[in-house]
Amino acid sequence: MEEQVSGWKGIVLAGGAGSRLYPSTAATCKQLLPVYDKPMIYYPISILMLGGISEILVISTPRDLPLLRDLLGDGSRVGVEFSYAEQPNPGGIAEAFLVGENFIGGSPTCLILGDNLFYGDMRFIRRALAKKTGGTIFGYAVQDPARYGVVEFDEAGKALSIEEKPKAPKSNFAVPGFYCYDNRVVEIAKELEPSDRGELEITDVNRKYLEKGELQVEVLSRGTAWLDMGTPRSLLDASNFVASIESRQGLKIGCLEEVAFRSGFISRKQLAALGEEVKGSEYGAYLLSLAEESS
Ligand code: G1P
Repeated sequence: MEEQVSGWKGIVLAGGAGSRLYPSTAATCKQLLPVYDKPMIYYPISILMLGGISEILVISTPRDLPLLRDLLGDGSRVGVEFSYAEQPNPGGIAEAFLVGENFIGGSPTCLILGDNLFYGDMRFIRRALAKKTGGTIFGYAVQDPARYGVVEFDEAGKALSIEEKPKAPKSNFAVPGFYCYDNRVVEIAKELEPSDRGELEITDVNRKYLEKGELQVEVLSRGTAWLDMGTPRSLLDASNFVASIESRQGLKIGCLEEVAFRSGFISRKQLAALGEEVKGSEYGAYLLSLAEESS
């Protein structure tokens, strides 16, 4: 059983119009679309749970929030507590800390984007959560950095600058959508000015921590997969990726019930009951097989 990380809260930002996925998003939200065998939002939620975080706020648009609530409920099935909050207008990623101010209270907070998938060596999560002050973000080598926040390093590997979607990227290291901050992030978010695209930019939050000398940027190893799923092609790539690994190993990625069981959020008996409820599905059969595994 994993040791619980006390004190951290988690936010999943599942806002946005999903316009790049139209018409798939005309009547539902991007984060509910299937990525192979489960809804997209399972993958980022599983990352927070793998970090031992059990208090999770889901932020979405007024249209989509009820749909997400229907899917996820109050979290008790998987031993966590989900709360919900509306982001009425697309005001940027950093707005999540304003929308979530009451939820965050005095805690340090992780934010993960609802369309990000991580797979592989996940120890980076616990390393980030072990830090009590400052912020931790990540760098990941990509072929097309101009689509992302981009971090530049000096020769010693220290972060020098971070730019949002630069035309001339100073490195090929993108910043993935998983950010961990101490409680000052709420005050920092309050002081931000909207960018040219009218949003409170997460990159500006990271810059503030960088200016204070309190931003840790960890480069994720090439053995870690980071995918985003915001376009038809990247969604298909993510589905194919999950399908390949799952069918090879017979193990699921982003299965909330499994993570809950392995993290000690639910008992074997509870896991078996969840499997029983949906035993007609391949997913249910998987849960039942896990519950029957020898301990
Ligand atoms: C956002 C952030 C960007 C980050 C990316 C990760 O981009 O602004 O810094 O690298 O998420 O997925 P957006 O999804 O708004 O294009």
